[in-house]
Amino acid sequence: MPESFNIEPYNRSSHDRSQFDCGVPSLNHYIQRQLSNDIRRNLARCYSAVSSSDTANPRRMAGYYTLSSHSLETDLLPEGVAQSPYPAVPAVLIGRLAVCKSFQGNRLGVQLVISALRRSVDLHDELGIQLIVVDPLGEDILSFYEKFGFVESGEGRLLLPIKTAKKALP
Ligand SMILES: CC(C)(COP(=O)(O)OP(=O)(O)OC[C@H]1O[C@@H](n2cnc3c(N)ncnc32)[C@H](O)[C@@H]1OP(=O)(O)O)[C@@H](O)C(=O)NCCC(=O)NCCS
Repeated sequence: MPESFNIEPYNRSSHDRSQFDCGVPSLNHYIQRQLSNDIRRNLARCYSAVSSSDTANPRRMAGYYTLSSHSLETDLLPEGVAQSPYPAVPAVLIGRLAVCKSFQGNRLGVQLVISALRRSVDLHDELGIQLIVVDPLGEDILSFYEKFGFVESGEGRLLLPIKTAKKALP
């Protein structure tokens, strides 16, 4: 049976991030050294995946993503991606997203993206949001996000209109 995961708001006393290794040093460093500062300063919120069969306390972090509010310059957006009479378009930024090496290949990456999209769609009922944004780490990762409908912004960013995310959610 494929491994199943719970994706929960990060909690430092119940999620163990000390062994987290996704193979990308900057994303390992972020979760181990920078996350708490970002949360304290209201710069990001983190969501943590743990295996449903993990009975340890704290449970080992298998993957994570962060969300932050964001805005993009209307004039720099590709045609048709957003509509705004204002200089900026409100957005949600998926700042970081990673799966621990020992859990990669179990479709947890896909589940994390879907979870981030669902939270963004839910948030857009509470405040204006037109776009979901990802800063991809490199060219190789583009195909991973394009499956969800993200398009390139021309500035190396990936954009997904919230309306498209809503339709794409299972
Ligand atoms: C990229 C990452 C999140 C994928 O997580 P994962 O759990 O291993 O991926 P999944 O099992 O959910 O794979 C889903 C699909 O994405 C593909 N995929 C996985 N990693 C990929 C990558 N680096 N680039 C492109 N496609 C990738 C898989 O082949 C699979 O394709 P399929 O649907 O055609 O079968 C994970 O490998 C990771 O954390 N990598 C290091 C950090 C990173 O690159 N983060 C992205 C920051 S922008």
